[in-house]
Amino acid sequence: MNEKIQLPAPTFDDQLRVSEAIVKRRSIRQYDGHALSLQQIANLCYFSAGVTDKERGFCANPTACNTHHIDLYLANADFCAKYIPAEHVLDIIERGDFRAEMAIQPFAKEASIQFIYVVNAVTFSKFPGNPDHKTKYGHTDCAIMATNTCLYATSLGLGSVMRGMFDPAIVAQRLHLPAEDEIVLTVSVG
Ligand SMILES: Cc1cc2nc3c(=O)[nH]c(=O)nc-3n(C[C@H](O)[C@H](O)[C@H](O)COP(=O)(O)O)c2cc1C
Repeated sequence: MNEKIQLPAPTFDDQLRVSEAIVKRRSIRQYDGHALSLQQIANLCYFSAGVTDKERGFCANPTACNTHHIDLYLANADFCAKYIPAEHVLDIIERGDFRAEMAIQPFAKEASIQFIYVVNAVTFSKFPGNPDHKTKYGHTDCAIMATNTCLYATSLGLGSVMRGMFDPAIVAQRLHLPAEDEIVLTVSVG
């Protein structure tokens, strides 16, 4: 598909201090299915993976050697999409609700959004360090981005849970991922 959704600029109106969000965050496994606003989606993307220093090319999430080798995807009731940090847009991949088939746990389809953290093999190939460290840095950097998501969700009063339980074959198919990319983690938010 060639459809993009321009996200609104992030807002800085979350209610909690970082210390409070850290203490309040818990894995939530019960959701009421209510949809998030586009502003909430925009903020979740931005504070997970957005470009926070355009001039110097730094992001909300640190990556080994600033390689930016983690891609952030999301699936909600309407579509699955890739977040493009440089443009702060969602690049729609497929329209439809694929949350239930991607997630193994039934509660996940009631959460408004599933975020998906993927090591991009092509981007990682530009990593200036030891290429054997792809797994180490890929997994670490996905966990960092997912932690951003969970803490920011908590600061909005939303529930979240990291989920290693997902069907990688279905996720890869729905996100049109090349075989070399690695899906590491998902986070449900709602
Ligand atoms: C890497 C990782 C994978 C996880 N996978 C799942 C999962 O697939 N399903 C689930 O319900 N919880 C999952 N969890 C959540 C943990 O069970 C949870 O973090 C732990 O029980 C501690 O509870 P807390 O998050 O409320 O502090 C995962 C957590 C992490 C860090």
